[in-house]
Amino acid sequence: MSIAVVPVAGLGTRLLPLTKSKPKEMLAVGRKPVVHYIVEELIENGVDQILFITGAGKTSIENYFDLNESLVNMLRERGKEDALAELQLDYMPVKYYFTRQRQLLGLGHAVQSASDFITDQPFVVALGDSIIHGGDAKLLSRMQACFDKNECAAVIAFETVPKNEVYRYGIAHPKTDDDIFELADIVEKPTVEDAPSQLAVAARYIFNPVIFEALQRTTPGAGGEIQLTDAIRLLIQDGHRVYGVRLTENERRFDIGSFPSYYRAFIEFALADPMYGEDLRKYVSDLLKGES
Ligand code: G1P
Repeated sequence: MSIAVVPVAGLGTRLLPLTKSKPKEMLAVGRKPVVHYIVEELIENGVDQILFITGAGKTSIENYFDLNESLVNMLRERGKEDALAELQLDYMPVKYYFTRQRQLLGLGHAVQSASDFITDQPFVVALGDSIIHGGDAKLLSRMQACFDKNECAAVIAFETVPKNEVYRYGIAHPKTDDDIFELADIVEKPTVEDAPSQLAVAARYIFNPVIFEALQRTTPGAGGEIQLTDAIRLLIQDGHRVYGVRLTENERRFDIGSFPSYYRAFIEFALADPMYGEDLRKYVSDLLKGES
């Protein structure tokens, strides 16, 4: 596994006005912007080429992954070793590529924009607004092992969500109850009544390039958008095998797409900050005591 596609073109309308001139993928979660965590996760799992599918107003993501030599030189001259250590990611052996999704026609359409870049090798898709955290950070490696073991067209990460939230996600119809399971079907944003389970797509996928052919045949679905889930469904209907891998008890997906989940992510990461977390914990706890 060495190539990952990271869609970051979405408008972030659920986070307005915060995202009016700043991509949601660049919002701070603790000390780092969201995309920083995603790139770290990809590198830890063996990815060395990352293609961002960007859109209008997303140039700050490109800038973030640029080398800022004048900043580095200035920090060196001033002997600011601590600050230099914070720029480690800039020196990781990974190559960045950027292409624009020129029309916002949905996640499936965004992934389709990568088709000229991918030749015949499997690739990861990591959604740019979700951080996977906790455990040993090896979700993608477990997915890759599943992909290698089974002759399949896709492996998808899943988490269990409350029943009243299934309408927000791609929901699996699993063939078995195991932690790694084959899919009988998958549905994008079903109603509670139509949901085949509470297993929701958790923002990480590995695909065989056959997905591009399925995407070409995918017509607009939920929300009038070309849905990646619908293309996966076509693969299953064509007789391809698609597997799901559940997040472990210790793995969590932090969704940065709405205020409630963004606030939770920020607070958890800030409380875990090795230098300032302890003080913040005391501050928050005093604040809460004052309220009671
Ligand atoms: C997308 C996918 C959905 C998935 C979700 C979280 O939805 O279409 O299947 O469950 O990401 O990974 P969105 O959040 O873009 O509405």
